[in-house]
Amino acid sequence: MAENIYIPKGDKKEIYEAILPQMKAILEGESDSIANMANCCAVLKEAFGWLWVGFYIVKQECLVLGPFQGPLACTRIAKGRGVCGSAWAKGQKLIVPDVEHFPGHIACSSLSRSEIVLPLKDENDEVWAVLDIDSQHLNCFDDTDEMFLCQILEFLKADKNN
Ligand code: SME
Repeated sequence: MAENIYIPKGDKKEIYEAILPQMKAILEGESDSIANMANCCAVLKEAFGWLWVGFYIVKQECLVLGPFQGPLACTRIAKGRGVCGSAWAKGQKLIVPDVEHFPGHIACSSLSRSEIVLPLKDENDEVWAVLDIDSQHLNCFDDTDEMFLCQILEFLKADKNN
């Protein structure tokens, strides 16, 4: 496995297009989901410089903090709580352009201004984890992020660690 990744200068579409095949090669070569989630966070944080990139993993009736890059974060989120718990409960992505306007938003960092959360589903269509990304800037995430991040998440599969 290559131990570094090429990240071009350019707009976010160009960056996603460049990192996608590299992430495919990195993630498909490893079966452990924790290792893959960790590398996924590292690449996305390096590529885009977002405030916080991380996973919460479904364990019983809670989301429990998994691999992440960024400031200290809350460790457990109940179903339906905050952006992450809502995305889990609905089984849908959530894009929040201004976290101050999301009722019940959980502020792990006061620097976070906007957020995207994408659920990861298993073969039974059950959510087994969520990817949460926070930005220091308002209105940072859009359909382009959703489209490419969903493609990256396709490379991640639930395994016996979960
Ligand atoms: N803001 C999230 C909580 C997780 S932290 O941002 C890392 C939420 O409202 O679910």
